[in-house]
Amino acid sequence: MWSCPPPRTSARSGAAVGPTTSTSAVARADVHTRPLEARPLEYSVLLHAPRRIVAPISLGLTDLVGLTQRVAAEVRAGDHEVVIDPSRRWYQRIQGDDFVDVWLISWATEQYAELHDHAGSFGALTVVSGALTETRWTAGGLRSRKLRAGRSVGFGLGHVHDVANPSPTPAVSVHAYSPPLTAMSYYAPDSDGVLPRLRRTRSVLVEAGSSEGIG
Ligand SMILES: [Fe+2]
Repeated sequence: MWSCPPPRTSARSGAAVGPTTSTSAVARADVHTRPLEARPLEYSVLLHAPRRIVAPISLGLTDLVGLTQRVAAEVRAGDHEVVIDPSRRWYQRIQGDDFVDVWLISWATEQYAELHDHAGSFGALTVVSGALTETRWTAGGLRSRKLRAGRSVGFGLGHVHDVANPSPTPAVSVHAYSPPLTAMSYYAPDSDGVLPRLRRTRSVLVEAGSSEGIG
C-alpha cells in the first residue's frame, strides 16, 4: 500500500517555542500598536502548526495489478456476467469507492479505447480472455505490444496508451484506477519533422462512476 510521507518538519514547523523576532517583525512593530512579541501564545501555535494531509491515499501499482488479477479470477469462475456487444464496447463497474474503481470490459473485434492518459490516477489491467493490443507512447514514439490472456500491466502517471482488440476473437479484461479517474486527455500522434510527439486533442472531466476513459 502506497502511503503519503509524513509532513516535513523543520525548525519553522516544529513545536512552538514562543514568539520569535525577525527583521521584518521588527519593522512591522513600528506601525502596530502592539508589537508581535506581545501576541498571545495560541496565535503563535496556529502559525506554526503542521498541516494535516486529508486527501485519499491511492493504491500503488503493485496493489492495483493484484486487484485486477483477483477480480479476473472471479470472472473466470463465473462470478460476473460478461456481455459481448459488437456495436460498442461493453463495460461494468465491479467496485467503486473513494480509493479505487474496478471495471470489467469486453472488446469485440476492432473495438478500441483511443489514445489517452489517466490524469492523476494510477491504473492496471489484467486480460481475462482473448488478447488485446496496447499501443503506448514512449520516448521513441508509439510502441505496440500484445497482451494475451493472463497478462497484467500497470500504468504509472503520465502513461499514454490506446487499447484495442484487432483479432476476430472477443477479449475480456479487468481494469482498475486509483484514485478513481477524475479527468483525462486524448491525444493524436504528430511530428515536428524531426521528432515524434503527441498533440492533445481534448481533455474531459470524468464524473464519479462514469465510463469515460475506461480502457
Ligand atoms: Fe487507459
